[in-house]
Amino acid sequence: MVLMASSEPLVLGIETSCDETGIGIVRGHSLLADAVASSVEEHARFGGVVPEVASRAHLEAMVPTIERACDTAGIALRDVDAIAVTAGPGLAGALLVGVAAAKALAIGLDKPLYGVNHLAAHVAVDQLQHGALPEPCLAMLVSGGHSSLLRVGDVTGDIQPMGATIDDAAGEAFDKVARLLGLGFPGGPVIDRTAVSGSSIAIDFPRGLTTRKDLERHRFDFSFSGLKTAVARWVEARERSGEPVPVADVAASFQEAVCDVLVRKALDAASSEGIDEIVIGGGVAANSRLRVLAEERASKLGIRIRVPRPGLCTDNGAMVAALGSEMVARGRTPSALDLPADSSQPVTHVLA
Ligand code: KG4
Ligand code: ZN
Repeated sequence: MVLMASSEPLVLGIETSCDETGIGIVRGHSLLADAVASSVEEHARFGGVVPEVASRAHLEAMVPTIERACDTAGIALRDVDAIAVTAGPGLAGALLVGVAAAKALAIGLDKPLYGVNHLAAHVAVDQLQHGALPEPCLAMLVSGGHSSLLRVGDVTGDIQPMGATIDDAAGEAFDKVARLLGLGFPGGPVIDRTAVSGSSIAIDFPRGLTTRKDLERHRFDFSFSGLKTAVARWVEARERSGEPVPVADVAASFQEAVCDVLVRKALDAASSEGIDEIVIGGGVAANSRLRVLAEERASKLGIRIRVPRPGLCTDNGAMVAALGSEMVARGRTPSALDLPADSSQPVTHVLA
């Protein structure tokens, strides 16, 4: 048997925009390693991510996580063809740790460096599971910091925002509601689990920006702040009445309100563009109800839903490597070695 060297690029991706130190290694669209070290437990008692704590944790986790990824992939660092790193958006100090590590690797190994957009990487990661992205496709990005609908012509350079949240992000709403229900942090996974034993129709919570008047100005935008307040008021009223709070019902009804609006608007955006494939990415895409509801409603319209497995939805290095690999495959010019970390990098700026 003759073993042919693969012509596809071997790319190492580094993700440090929030509280996950992620190192991914991919060859083309094949995932070879996805090592993640999370500092989430260090933030739990504060009810949210503490930037300084996250930065320090990235620093400590960086080298061991790179070593773990290389071991899993069965490669040596010198085998890598390119380094990709999240340049933004995210927490400034946290991003800096990843960008500095990526520059050190790029210089030490004499390999090209690609500073990529975190949000675009959440879309690109789906290629590792479902193959090349259709062009164009509609992407819905729902995470702790973002909720947006994007028209993606080319994930390495042509991403047009169609709508976004005007207040809280979807993941933020999950985190805040979990906190007021005393369920802990991060809120998404625990609400998802708690909702299983509750009724999604027990409480009719508001669907933000869905009235006819709202749709005139905010057809593809989201708002979750009113929903969070509605949940808080409902729980307070219940507590005042002395009756126990039916936590599972509140969780399930709240989750239904979020998922209903997300799916409705994503399908509307895709239909309005004549697009029949939707990619859902970001931490909230791990939500079990969102996945089922999107699939159910989309299939009736002949629209295909692509959602990566939950581990690829939350922050990880594989997504960064996936986007970096696409940059190499498309011959994009690498980033300069004085690449800055940009905490508010817009989604239209895919390669820094
Ligand atoms: O993409 P991500 O890991 O980090 C950011 O870039 O923000 O998303 C984290 C967010 C958190 O708000 C978390 O509560 C939410 O994703 N999340 C979920 C689920 N798993 C994580 N939300 C709903 N259901 C889940 N199963
Ligand atoms: Zn993210």
